[in-house]
Formats: sequence, structure tokens, C-alpha cells
Amino acid sequence: MTTTEVESVPTGAQIQAARDGVARRLLKGSSSRSYDPVVDIDWAAPFVPGKYFLPPRVMSLYGTQVWDAMTPEQRIEMSRQEMANIMSVGIWFENLLNRALLISLMKEDPAAATTHYSLTEMGDECRHMTMFGRAIETTGTRAYALRRWQRTVMHLIPVVMRGTALWVITLVGEELFDALQREIKDDPELQPMVSRVMQIHVTEESRHIGFARDGVMRRIPIRSRFDTLLASSVHGLAAPIFRHLFTNPEMYRRAGFDNPKEIARVARANPNFHDSQVTSFASLAAFLEQAGLMNRFSRTMWKRAGFLR
Ligand SMILES: [Fe+2]
Ligand SMILES: [Fe+2]
Repeated sequence: MTTTEVESVPTGAQIQAARDGVARRLLKGSSSRSYDPVVDIDWAAPFVPGKYFLPPRVMSLYGTQVWDAMTPEQRIEMSRQEMANIMSVGIWFENLLNRALLISLMKEDPAAATTHYSLTEMGDECRHMTMFGRAIETTGTRAYALRRWQRTVMHLIPVVMRGTALWVITLVGEELFDALQREIKDDPELQPMVSRVMQIHVTEESRHIGFARDGVMRRIPIRSRFDTLLASSVHGLAAPIFRHLFTNPEMYRRAGFDNPKEIARVARANPNFHDSQVTSFASLAAFLEQAGLMNRFSRTMWKRAGFLR
């Protein structure tokens, strides 16, 4: 390699050194600010009558005629089911991310700070999955299951997650939830237990998002054309999946509707719900644009699914 090339394009060793620096900082933050949901949440506290499990304004039916016809009790029950559905989706994605990180560590240096941070992140996610599962159990609902084909897809994704795409898929899984939780965590209408779960999650996720965003940015100068194409297209596939998962007919059925598929269609066409999704996706969309990872395909997919205008 010539001197000019060394100056213009960072070497793999230089990138690793910079990543190690970021990882060391995040490891420090993790040791001073991490939570154990088993003891840091008062699971025995009774629920506050009249409070929601998700604020109405972010719920999929809010603002529709269906919503207007619901009683306050039905709305609260709908919020309980919708919360359990979102937490179930969160659990599947964290499972997926952990598997992807574990696979990527097969070829990494076990002594590197980046490896240690990845392992710490996986530990955070294990506690998050426990926390979400416990929240579902405490609210007296049941987790929502994936269909077999969805499980197969979820099983295969981590195997192909590599290079920039690894960090982009991580961000898609984390930032949509993070933005939503950030927006609603201190809402006075929310049950205190749900608020607490979200506060803990937001705190720990901000480190994960920082690590993944740094991973994307550092790879810009060394990104191959294929890497760019894959990373800027693959996240568009998540759009219809999220749209489908967030309006899962099963949650409307459990909330007492006898025409759940029709209700899911009402939710998918709900402009108020699209506004809420656009807000959740805004920060990630801006980041992907900045990193040069939005192409015509992915933009169209997010628009069609109601996450982008
Ligand atoms: Fe998490
Ligand atoms: Fe995370």
C-alpha cells in the first residue's frame, strides 16, 4: 500500500483501534449504568386503575371510528394487548441481534475491546428479553408467537448479517423501538411499571445505538459497492415486516374484536398511526440518508409501509 492510500483510506487496523476506543468508553458506561430488571422494577406493585399500557396517541387504532366507538375499558385492554405485542416483537429482534453478534464474534479477536463490548451488549439484551417477558407476564397477557415462516426468516437473517448490513439491521431493530419508547416513557397516562421498563431500556439502548452507528460511519471509507448495495437495500425489507407485526390481527382478536383482520386493515390505513410511525422512523431515516444508505428501493418500501412521507 502506498503512503497516499494510507493517508486517504484508513487501514483495517486503524479502524479497529478507533472502534476499540469507542468500545472502551461504552464498557465504562455499561459498568456504571446498567440495570437488573429482576430487582430494579417493582413487579409486585398493583396497576393504577384508569392508566394505559401504551399512550393512546401511539396506538394503531387511535383516531379511527373504531377507536371512537370503544369504551374506556376496551381502550385500556387494547393498550395492554398492543403493549404485549410490541414487547414480543422486541424480544424476537433482540434474540436475532444476539445471534448475529455471536456469529460475528467467531471471526473477531476475543481479546479486543470491541468483542468485550459486544458480549456486554448481548448481556444487556438477555436482561431486556427477561424484562419484556416479565412485563408481559405481570400484566396478565400472553406473548405473541411468530408464525413458522416468520421464525424461519428470523432464523436465517443473522447468518447473512455481515459488514455494514450487520450494523444497519441492528439499528433498524433498535431505533424504531427506542424512538417510540423515548417519546412515551414519561407519559403521565402510562402505567408506572411500563414507564420504568421503557426508561431502563432507553438508557441501555443508547449505548447499543452509539456502537452500531459508529460501526456504520467508520466503514464508509472502506465500504465495497456490494456492501453498500446490500446495506442500503436490506433494511427496506424490514418495512412491510414491521407494518405487519405492529398490526397483528391476533392482538385485536384478544382485545375482543370478532373481525380482527378487518380491524388490522383499519389500523394499517390509519393516518394517525402513520404519523406515529413516521416520528419513530425519523431519526433512523435521517441517519441512513447521512450514511448514504437509503436507495430508491428502501425509500419506496418504507413509504409504502407508512414510515416515511
Ligand atoms: Fe434491548
Ligand atoms: Fe440493543
